[in-house]
Amino acid sequence: MVDKRMLTPCGEQEREAAAGLVRDWNLAYARSMGHSRGVYVATFGCQQNQADSEKLLGMAVDMGYRPVETAEEADLILVNTCAIREHAENRALAMVGEYKHIRERNPDLIIGVCGCMVSQEHRRESLRKSYPYVTFTLGTSSLHQFPRVLWESIEKDCRVIRSECPEDMESEVAEGIPVHRASGYRAWVSVMYGCNNFCSYCIVPYVRGRERSREKADILREVQELVQAGYRDITLLGQNVNSYGRGLAEPCDFADLLSALDAIPGDWWLRFMTSHPKDASRKLIDVMATGKHIVPTFHLPLQSGSDRVLHAMNRRYDMAKYMDTVTYMKERIPRLTLTSDIIVGFPGEEEEDYQATLRALEAVQFDMLFAFIYSPRKGTPAAGWEQVPPEVKKTRYTHLMEVQDGISLARNRELVGQVVRVLCDGESKTNPALYSGRTEGNKSVFFAGTEAMVGRFCQVLVERVEPYALHGRVIDG
Ligand code: 5AD
Ligand code: SF4
Repeated sequence: MVDKRMLTPCGEQEREAAAGLVRDWNLAYARSMGHSRGVYVATFGCQQNQADSEKLLGMAVDMGYRPVETAEEADLILVNTCAIREHAENRALAMVGEYKHIRERNPDLIIGVCGCMVSQEHRRESLRKSYPYVTFTLGTSSLHQFPRVLWESIEKDCRVIRSECPEDMESEVAEGIPVHRASGYRAWVSVMYGCNNFCSYCIVPYVRGRERSREKADILREVQELVQAGYRDITLLGQNVNSYGRGLAEPCDFADLLSALDAIPGDWWLRFMTSHPKDASRKLIDVMATGKHIVPTFHLPLQSGSDRVLHAMNRRYDMAKYMDTVTYMKERIPRLTLTSDIIVGFPGEEEEDYQATLRALEAVQFDMLFAFIYSPRKGTPAAGWEQVPPEVKKTRYTHLMEVQDGISLARNRELVGQVVRVLCDGESKTNPALYSGRTEGNKSVFFAGTEAMVGRFCQVLVERVEPYALHGRVIDG
């Protein structure tokens, strides 16, 4: 039986009241047990989801939970899911499946499944039926309802699996949510939520709701505080940052917002994602060209190099418009790092369309490319169209990545012998003998470093390159 109940609107006061009740409940436990309850958050998907997870963790810590390293140690597990491709959903469901064993050992364990996947009714329904140990679900637009939903499940000892509240999907932007940031020097800042574009392949507008922008003053305050706290690399997030500002009482477009943020003094980088090519304005490019903190880096998802496919995708630009924007960017921003997304095997993609995409890659010369095999998403128009056979998709994908590897390598070769500024992240996960960091263009750099360099800028002379990595020597750090 489908439960048609919805979450009701939840303001700051209600959120705080529920958080207080959970806090007291946790305090009593910590007093009697001598330690507090643990929380573990597993995250799938994009940067927006990582930012959402930092808020979930922030709220949990505010309610008296202690972050733990593994799911086994936790009393509360949150799985923040992604719905962009089937693979991401399958991985999240497999992970939730594994938690069944932990729950068997600890019947008091609370498991919440959050994010894009559970904003879909059919997924909530399958969690309700087939995963009886899942305590609650929380869609992306309702994350601020976490304390209230959690308290309801504790107080009534019940499951809370409901649709999102329509107000949350359409108009509400919840401010003042505590954030527990994973890094002390890189930070995400959401500037808007949702998407109105309805690209024919994409689930995002259905699961993240309509475009809602945060007030400029709230964003300015948050970024100012981050810079003052020593954050060095701040990324503004939105599904389509170029439409920032629509519907705000005080008119402000994204270029205006960037200019205002760029005036914040300090030694820090400002970046943003994602831009839609139909809205990437010359004004925005001009602001980037003259900015002090804005890095010369642009992520501009092309999706396909074929006008016919772009039209079917409902992208509302063609190759001529895309190339016009790229040409202007390259003219105005000399050190530009340009990256993009491509979908291979979109319904109806013929060999000639695919060849047009390869020609586009050659023409633009992206530094990095995120390529995806088209994955039909239930409820989107393209899911019902005639599909490209899986083996054709796979062959095209593999070949496309080979072509891009060559382009990325050639782009990186241009950096050999140059000094690049790098923000150091720490010991490399792939090669513990080395340290790694990222350039302003987000390229990975490997070098011999020290712990004292972590979270700081250094200058690296590039000596050797691969398609997706630079290797070099620190000359000042
Ligand atoms: N199948 C494959 N890739 C997709 N993307 C979005 N929807 C799908 C889908 N159904 C890709 C797009 C987008 C990126 C974040 O994910 O390239 O830019
Ligand atoms: Fe999806 Fe298109 Fe919106 Fe990007 S702009 S989130 S691809 S619908």
